[in-house]
Amino acid sequence: MSTIRRPAGTVRLFAVLAAASLAVTACGDGDGGPTAGGGGGGGGGDAADYPDQNITFVVPFSAGGPTDTVTRLIAEPMSEELGQQIVVQNVEGAGGTVASGEVANAEPDGYTVLMHHIGMSTAPALYQDLGFDPLEDFEMIGLVTEVPMTIVARNDFEPETLEDLIDYVSANADSVTLANAGIGAASHLCGLLFQDAIGATVQEVPYEGTGPALTDLIGGQVDFMCDQTTNTTSQITAGEVKAYAVTTPERVDSLPDLPTTEEAGLPDLQVGVWHGLYVPAGTPEEIVTQLSDALKVALADQGVIDQMGDLGTAPVAEEDATPEAHRARLEEQIETWGQIIADAGVEQS
Ligand code: MLT
Repeated sequence: MSTIRRPAGTVRLFAVLAAASLAVTACGDGDGGPTAGGGGGGGGGDAADYPDQNITFVVPFSAGGPTDTVTRLIAEPMSEELGQQIVVQNVEGAGGTVASGEVANAEPDGYTVLMHHIGMSTAPALYQDLGFDPLEDFEMIGLVTEVPMTIVARNDFEPETLEDLIDYVSANADSVTLANAGIGAASHLCGLLFQDAIGATVQEVPYEGTGPALTDLIGGQVDFMCDQTTNTTSQITAGEVKAYAVTTPERVDSLPDLPTTEEAGLPDLQVGVWHGLYVPAGTPEEIVTQLSDALKVALADQGVIDQMGDLGTAPVAEEDATPEAHRARLEEQIETWGQIIADAGVEQS
């Protein structure tokens, strides 16, 4: 069993449960990807007039999940700063790679923006034919926020502690089910690391997002999963799911009673979920700068800070909400996770 090293640069990532009713319009059922001409009904205005129509923020997982939540929280203040409505569109599939591929091919006019997380850095190691290059086919706008993961189970699942869970899963690997949001999703990566850390392989049950996965977990249709505090904090607090640990070096303020994986006996399982915004390569620099500046305004918004705090999270530092910091993190994470995934002997899909 290979040792799971803590990825260099693993950062504490915090998530957000958007309580704000945002000036954003949820739309799209994921069938149609971002329109080629930009999400706002087709780009075309030049950079000097940008933005002169709606902007589409693409979320690569189901509505109501952690990625959707983070997106909607920052979308309102960004919309106010940019002076245009932001339309949030969920484009699910293949652990976030369907949406990423579609945004990579969208018009580079600033009207189609992708929110993605650590999955952008693991996809190259997990997919043989990705169809896009995370570093070449996108301009980075900036890092957004950073999320811990929690290991949770259906309430009537037998194991009471993480140690019990390790013993139970090891002894019943052929009958235990582990939910995730598809190969390359953060929940998949964390589940991979958990299985590798305990030397057992269980039956994975993929969903289009951990929003629906958590619904099934609460309903008892699946046994356990790794998911971000964005999605699990309120259910853990309400006692709707069993929680074993949080995958960060320190406990999360919003879940003070939840031990870290280190405290609970799995010190090598530490994984955080960093999020960033992307636009297609070739998007004019002045548009990238406008979006990055609007992101910084959103992350300094007291409402955003407070809502992030509800889940023990905080915006990244201003200097990280920049294209340069985002690109540096993505480059380092692609290299780090590529090695860890190879060491774990994971077959590419
Ligand atoms: C989601 O938004 O559903 C999650 O980010 C999926 C995942 O990455 O586990």
